[in-house]
Amino acid sequence: SFPSEALPTPLTEAVVNDHNPINATVLYGSQTGNSQSVAETLALQFNQAGINADLHSMRDYKTKELKSAERLFVIISTHGEGEPPDNAIGFYEHAFSRKMPKLDGVQFSVLSLGDESYEFFCQTGKELDDLFEKLGGERVVPRADCDVDFEEVANEWIDEVVTKMAENRQSATAPFASPTSIIGDSPSPYSRSNPYHAEVLENINLNGRGSNKETRHIELSLEGSGFTFLPGDSIGIFPENDELIVQQLLELTNWDGNLDVSINKNNDTVPLKEALLKHYEITVLTKPLLTKTKQWMNEEGVEELIQEGNQDQLRDYLEGRDLIDYIKDFGPIQTSAEEFVATLRKIPPRLYSIASSHLANEDEVHLTVSAVRYDFNERARSGVCSVQCAERTEVGGVLPIFVQKNDNFRLPKDPETPIIMVGPGTGVAPYRSFLEEREELDASGKSWLFFGDQHFVTDFLYQVDWQRWLSNGTLTKMDVAFSRDTDKKVYVQHRMKEKAKELYEWIDAGATIYVCGDEKQMAQDVHDTLAEIVAAEGNYTTDEAETFLKELQQEQRYQRDVY
Ligand code: 2AM
Repeated sequence: SFPSEALPTPLTEAVVNDHNPINATVLYGSQTGNSQSVAETLALQFNQAGINADLHSMRDYKTKELKSAERLFVIISTHGEGEPPDNAIGFYEHAFSRKMPKLDGVQFSVLSLGDESYEFFCQTGKELDDLFEKLGGERVVPRADCDVDFEEVANEWIDEVVTKMAENRQSATAPFASPTSIIGDSPSPYSRSNPYHAEVLENINLNGRGSNKETRHIELSLEGSGFTFLPGDSIGIFPENDELIVQQLLELTNWDGNLDVSINKNNDTVPLKEALLKHYEITVLTKPLLTKTKQWMNEEGVEELIQEGNQDQLRDYLEGRDLIDYIKDFGPIQTSAEEFVATLRKIPPRLYSIASSHLANEDEVHLTVSAVRYDFNERARSGVCSVQCAERTEVGGVLPIFVQKNDNFRLPKDPETPIIMVGPGTGVAPYRSFLEEREELDASGKSWLFFGDQHFVTDFLYQVDWQRWLSNGTLTKMDVAFSRDTDKKVYVQHRMKEKAKELYEWIDAGATIYVCGDEKQMAQDVHDTLAEIVAAEGNYTTDEAETFLKELQQEQRYQRDVY
């Protein structure tokens, strides 16, 4: 199971009396923290099995250090169109360059994390796995590719790797030495695999009447949870599907909601209705789901859709459709409910950037959740977790949660370091945490916030907080872009461009830049704008400006929390 809290790193030498210890290098590349938590679990289990685990983020690891690695275990996620996570970009580029050492005889295995609803599923993990083999490595356990419900596959891979290495160890070394304890101070018994049921203390709409949006400010009690967190961390919420959709699904299929069905490999069972509400994902379609279920559907129809060469057609079909659409289009289902639901993915927890500081308010955590609603194919659609938060989460109720660490998004160690924060919409959430923390610490570093949303009057999230921090000096500067108050759209990157000279001065003086929010559009546009600003103000070519930003990223002076 995955502890939600950090293990102290690097892990201390576990095998004190062993004269011939075996060593394993564990590297992770993580965007949202999932790979990191798996890597920490692997390192912990290695140490308990008497194997020295040397655990690193790829961000802090140079490929040339692999020259001395004897065993290499890599856990890495994939993003967007098959890209590595931000903190692994440097490692990844070096890995495919001449700087990468040979791996002759190095025992290795790769675990890749991804999302089967994306075309380039687990791409980065697959590429590294191939590369290590080409460089002479010996794959000791086959690569495993995890979908969003990664726990089971990841745990199996960990078991296999640890068992294999422990066998090697026993044949190679002296008797088993007792492992030293390495998580003595883990403060919480709760984690992703054992979520804490947090009481809802507050749940309000931050948007005013007439807004196109509904953004909930949710305060949860952490009393007795033992959770600690830092600004930049996220909370994972296990959502429940909408009962209305489950009801529609049961009617459409004629399934009996009281029938017991299995919900995991241990064959634990719950009534079908509960399984559909709480355990299985019914609002997303993926190619693997179509492939696994086509035999029970209009097989020719599904087959045509998933054929090689029909990628565009398939992508169009999957986009926005859910299980009900699929059954309407290709049903009726010609198998039992039990067999069919066993092919569904587990409903994954949703991650929300924390909007409060633990230091300032240790018994609570605050979240900023935007309700996702749209019409599609003549039916109203809703984001599972966000609309649950908006419509079905009452004060006094509970939500199952855990803390997800995110070392990719951290305040500078030095409280005097200036910070530049870019966060339109709910992307502003972590900056509320940053500023609460800096206020609590009496930090003297300057800070500059770029915020944007549709309308000043209805969508200025946390306006009162920013104004208070501006007046007491916690926040030095703020620029806002309200995109729909004027004829021409104004976005955060336009405001940045207007302040190019001053922004560059801040960067030149050592500021750390943060970008949080939409990955595909906003974060890309902001990145391009930063590159333009650096090129123009620093007299760089476009390529040099990109290199400059890459170096900032490596030095953790340019950090992104994007989704
Ligand atoms: P829009 O909805 O008017 O297009 C928060 O959602 C804010 O981010 C909104 O003002 C939204 O504008 C804006 N936004 C949308 N796309 C963006 C982009 N590519 N770059 C920056 N801001 C964007």
